[in-house]
Amino acid sequence: MSNKIRLGILGGGGDSLIGVLHRVASSMFDRYEIVGGVFNPNYPDNVAFAKKLGLNESRIYVDFETMIVEESKLDKDERIEVVSVLTPNFLHYPMAKQLLENNFNVICEKPLTTTYKEALDLKKIQEEKNLVFAVTYTYTGYPMVRQMTKMISNGSIGKIQKVDAQYLQGWLNPVIHEKEKRNSTWRLDPKKSGISCCVGDIGTHAFNMVELVTGMKVKSVLADLNTLYDDNPMDIDANILIRFSTNAKGTIRSSQIATGEENNLRINVYGEKGALKWEQENPNYLYHLTDDAPMQVLKSGHSYNDEISLDGTKLPPGHPEGIFDSMGNIYKGVARAIRKETFQDAEFPSIDDGVRGMDFIEKTVESNSKGNIWIELNN
Ligand SMILES: NC(=O)c1ccc[n+]([C@@H]2O[C@H](COP(=O)([O-])OP(=O)(O)OC[C@H]3O[C@@H](n4cnc5c(N)ncnc54)[C@H](O)[C@@H]3O)[C@@H](O)[C@H]2O)c1
Repeated sequence: MSNKIRLGILGGGGDSLIGVLHRVASSMFDRYEIVGGVFNPNYPDNVAFAKKLGLNESRIYVDFETMIVEESKLDKDERIEVVSVLTPNFLHYPMAKQLLENNFNVICEKPLTTTYKEALDLKKIQEEKNLVFAVTYTYTGYPMVRQMTKMISNGSIGKIQKVDAQYLQGWLNPVIHEKEKRNSTWRLDPKKSGISCCVGDIGTHAFNMVELVTGMKVKSVLADLNTLYDDNPMDIDANILIRFSTNAKGTIRSSQIATGEENNLRINVYGEKGALKWEQENPNYLYHLTDDAPMQVLKSGHSYNDEISLDGTKLPPGHPEGIFDSMGNIYKGVARAIRKETFQDAEFPSIDDGVRGMDFIEKTVESNSKGNIWIELNN
């Protein structure tokens, strides 16, 4: 009998942005088999898409509540073991909560929920149930992000003194200037997105990246957010100052109206002995800077990289790997955790990362609405 992990999917239908990334990622290391789910709230569309994937119609459900009830009736070696939640943000919490309560492991898209309170509630249930829970901060799976994290924790650049992170996109520019378009985009609807658009959607990726690679927690934030139009309640641009509990300080700049930008996530970490720089649109390279030597360019797949970085590459150096591979590495880490064969710590972003992300979003919005003041995060 196959030892593949039985995966269910909520959302991520043929009309979605992120569905294909999860499906490809789950198939990458032959660890999962997609067996069912609810890809779309419209049942005929749901079934049509599932058929296209070659799935058995009997495991395609009308909604997530029915999926949980019906799957729970199946034998343990038949029922779905882990569910990927790929719907718009407001559905993450009710779906993940019921999944955990009914003993399913969860892979959830970011932002984890729409409020910090909901995030804490999920963490409580996850701990009680002792289930695997990943939050797909996708970029953390890149081999050179893993290498950067290892080099910083090994002291390669010394004590950190400055962090500069940016995540610039331009996709909202053609949307935001037309009232009808901005009123029909779910990411700009607080009921579907939560209290923030730009910070919740992409600033949170940059924040997670900052805390991951530095190994340090952000202590406080001061944010200046922009909505551009008075009838738009959601931030679409954010300039955020950050402070750590050490003397280190930094910035997180994120925008969805940075005209012409695509997916320009970058993180630069400057230490006493050197600096490391990485950029998502050129992800197989890591730049190492020092005061007195030419810049070194480290590349993925070479034996000088750490074991956890090498575990994230599948082909010899020179074969570019990208976002699908990065998500594939997250799925690989989750598969190991479900099968209790963990290779190294922090192979995938956890529920704690998701909770931190929600605290960051709320504190950023609070800082802005109170007149751009410093606000402390919970620690
Ligand atoms: N990790 C990343 O880098 C990344 C990138 C993009 C999106 N996301 C996140 O993924 C989530 C989805 O984003 P998207 O851009 O794919 O959205 P989308 O609007 O493109 O797709 C949403 C999908 O969910 C389905 N859906 C909606 N309601 C549903 C319901 N009740 N039951 C089942 N399916 C339902 C829709 O039919 C659609 O297929 C969001 O939370 C977003 O923040 C993450």
